[in-house]
Amino acid sequence: MRQAEACPFTLRRLETIRSTLGDPALTAATIQTLETLAPDPNNKPRLIEWLQAGVESKDRRYEIRSALRALSHAIRPRSYLEIGTRRGWSLAQVLCESSAARAYSFDRWVEGYGGVENPGPEFVREEMRRAAPEHSGGLRFIPGNSHDTLPVFFQGVPLEVQEFEDLSIVRAGEDAPRSFDLVTVDGDHTALGTWWDVTDVLPFVAIGGAIVIDDLVDTADEALGDRATSRYAAIRPSPEGLESSLLDVWNRLKAGLDNYEFIESFDSIVPIGIAIRMH
Ligand SMILES: C[S@@+](CC[C@H](N)C(=O)[O-])C[C@H]1O[C@@H](n2cnc3c(N)ncnc32)[C@H](O)[C@@H]1O
Repeated sequence: MRQAEACPFTLRRLETIRSTLGDPALTAATIQTLETLAPDPNNKPRLIEWLQAGVESKDRRYEIRSALRALSHAIRPRSYLEIGTRRGWSLAQVLCESSAARAYSFDRWVEGYGGVENPGPEFVREEMRRAAPEHSGGLRFIPGNSHDTLPVFFQGVPLEVQEFEDLSIVRAGEDAPRSFDLVTVDGDHTALGTWWDVTDVLPFVAIGGAIVIDDLVDTADEALGDRATSRYAAIRPSPEGLESSLLDVWNRLKAGLDNYEFIESFDSIVPIGIAIRMH
């Protein structure tokens, strides 16, 4: 990033984010919020144990939920877009810290994701009522494959008969903020699908805003036989030589985006990257 092009506001923002990530008090708050959410014996105890060890050792470790908690504390986002919500663990962290945030959740509610029920919007809405009762900024769910819904939401494709079949997505996009202060990309875990999600949201990240990308590991879901699909596949970019690796996606973003600063943690329970738009 060419620092000279960043303004004092974004430089200050970057410093605040750096000093807030891993704050033990915010990690403790993350745990408290996770504990108010419905049980998930397959996944939650291990995560809470990992976070708790960080609070006790003060080693400033973070993963996606505690990073989102810290980012929301630092940025106080007025708008939040999340791709991949599942049972609302990440969403709850943002809504707890930013009661006025206008939140948009994109999920196709893959059955049994993570080995437990993935019930969908009504379940998550109920969870948010309990975990983030102060939140009043509005929460909108856009169900479906994000590679079909995001292009319609952002009107990145011509709106024709098919798009008008579900007018609710067009309307939600028309009413949405023009840019988002905070974005999470944690839906489709194929490398190509992650690339599509990131490139769909990039034009709508606010200056001083952040994108969080989870699971920066070397094996993406293509290795499990999964394939990204989109009714717009023919007009979507497919970067040459993209490996089946979210780490490759991340490294390409780092190499290609000169208006972002990049923070990454490979010591996380799951590796995570945060890109902050500087100008
Ligand atoms: C890893 S989970 C999200 C976890 C959540 N961010 C959290 O912190 O607990 C991934 C979610 O993405 C959804 N998903 C997977 N592929 C998707 C796609 N192509 N479009 C929309 N959602 C998708 C799944 O249904 C699942 O709920």
